[in-house]
Amino acid sequence: MSGIHPAFLDLAPLAAAAGTVRLPGSKSLSNRTLLLAGLAEGITEIRDLLDSDDTARMLEALATLGVRVEGDPASGTVRVHGCGGRFPVDEAELFLGNAGTAFRPLTAVLALNGGRYRLRGVARMHERPIGDLVEALRAMGASIHYEAVEGFPPLRIEAASVRAPDTLRVRGDVSSQFLSALLMALPLTGRAAAVEVEGELISKPYVDITLNTLARFGVSVGRQGYQRFELPAGSRYRSPGVVHVEGDASGASYFLAAGAVGGGPVRVEGVGRGSIQGDVRFADALEGLGAQVRWGDNWIEASAPASGRLKAFDLDLNHIPDAAMTLAVVALFTDGPCRLRNIASWRVKETDRIAAMANELRKLGALVVEHPDQLEVQSPALLRGAAIETYDDHRMAMCLSLAALGGVPVRIIDPGCVAKTFPDYFERFAEVGQPARVPVIAIDGPSASGKGTVADRVAQVLGWRYLDSGAVYRLVGLAAIRAGVDLADEPTLAVLAEGLQAEFRAGRVFLSGEDVTEAIRVEAVSSAASKVAALPAVRAALLWRQRAFAGLPGLVAEGRDMASVVFPDAELKVFLTASAQTRAERRYKQLIDKGMSVTLPALLQEIEERDARDRQRMAAPLRQADGARLLDTTDLGAEQAAQQVLGWFGRESS
Ligand code: DC
Repeated sequence: MSGIHPAFLDLAPLAAAAGTVRLPGSKSLSNRTLLLAGLAEGITEIRDLLDSDDTARMLEALATLGVRVEGDPASGTVRVHGCGGRFPVDEAELFLGNAGTAFRPLTAVLALNGGRYRLRGVARMHERPIGDLVEALRAMGASIHYEAVEGFPPLRIEAASVRAPDTLRVRGDVSSQFLSALLMALPLTGRAAAVEVEGELISKPYVDITLNTLARFGVSVGRQGYQRFELPAGSRYRSPGVVHVEGDASGASYFLAAGAVGGGPVRVEGVGRGSIQGDVRFADALEGLGAQVRWGDNWIEASAPASGRLKAFDLDLNHIPDAAMTLAVVALFTDGPCRLRNIASWRVKETDRIAAMANELRKLGALVVEHPDQLEVQSPALLRGAAIETYDDHRMAMCLSLAALGGVPVRIIDPGCVAKTFPDYFERFAEVGQPARVPVIAIDGPSASGKGTVADRVAQVLGWRYLDSGAVYRLVGLAAIRAGVDLADEPTLAVLAEGLQAEFRAGRVFLSGEDVTEAIRVEAVSSAASKVAALPAVRAALLWRQRAFAGLPGLVAEGRDMASVVFPDAELKVFLTASAQTRAERRYKQLIDKGMSVTLPALLQEIEERDARDRQRMAAPLRQADGARLLDTTDLGAEQAAQQVLGWFGRESS
């Protein structure tokens, strides 16, 4: 695992996805296998083990508890010397990070081990419920104490004499890991035992993974539906010798989705027809949306529908809670509104995934409605580029990377969080993503030169996106005035610019959700914008935000430094100008039409002052960029000017 943790990772807009990816080992199988190998009689060689944060926490815990593990997890192969049913270390403190697959089963196993233990994790782990499991263990006589908040880690376990009652009960509607943890621990008592599930069991396929792993280690569990599970007397774990860990089926979902959205085919290797992981059913869900899916023994492959576009969906996704997150992002690429049902468990995972997903999909331009256990997602006609927060949740980072297939730049904040289960995810993603070349027309010029009207018109004719970068500076000006920030306080203004909640939708401009299209045009804001625009730290803070507009099929961007700084590689660069007198007259007419009271001399003076400030400032002064064509509109209407730009573009792009 790499020790470098960049603050963010910029993903280029992607035009397509195709290729083959070898998956890392499954997290669910790796941690279950490690634990049972540690408890079994004999030595187990585990191959294709996942090397990630969550497995590192389990390996550390096993070492602390006295289990000998040989080999380097980074090589994918380790040899675990099983302790034959009871961990030799009687007193220990375990730090389990945010690994639910380590915390829950170790709680159950250690409660039966007869020693004193402390189990804790990261702050988020201490917000994830464990009360139902603790209740079930206490009913067996286990001595478990909450160290902070009732029902949540950290936990302290004391030695106690534990006896399984004939029938144990556990709730199954918060996390299936409570049942899995009991099933993994109970064979250690050697007695016959039954577990009954109270409430509807969620995430059933994860219980199947548990039963399958138990069977590999010699313990067969009988079950009646998913209501009652029975362990025979005399059960004990025995090493099967060598265990191969399947590839991570949840991790497969990102690449299969990439194939379905980005043309494909994308093939994942390491899971296939015979997989025991429920998340392979994600491929069926994709197929239901029209994707073309093919299965091999050890691979799955997905391509876009023959018709091109995926169909909208309304699905109960309780059986694939993790891979379902991928579908929330796939919803951006379907032909209508989508609904994800029965996903309440998302709220108690690495973060509140329903809330987190809603926030981030909205940044991309989607309309999202959040329910307690559902999510509705409606994609915009064109996605917007966005900086995505990841909430220390590996799956948020991996899912949302797919948005780059909308042909827009995506910035992933804290990309290192993927180390939880898929440390080299972004390298693999880069191998299948095919970068798009997004054409840009940059139009710069002084205020009231007509560049807004011309740029908007050119964008309309080409069917491209449009960026009014002046509006971005105006938003900072407005936000600064409202927050009472001194317009010379550069560090504070830069922070404000960085965190600006700006949105451009259907020709309107929003600040923190409020429509400020008119408010940013008043004179006080023009003046504030010009002042904040002179500050290098503010300009730097707004740079990526402007570049994020460059999505397929193309962008027309207008401002002062579009051609020189923001899009220096633009296909076509135009410097639009007109005499100060003409510009003052245009502005005068605009304002009078809006019923504002202004005088022409005052406007002329204001325009000349602003020109001087924009030209003389040190940071990105207004000038005709190298390679930019000059277009003087003093005697030209906006339509003629737009036709001239289109003419140049046609010639230069042909
Ligand atoms: O184009 P406009 O009048 O809406 O711009 C508002 C202010 O922002 C103006 O004073 C210049 C500044 N600006 C800038 O410095 N760089 C840009 N790319 C766009 C505008």
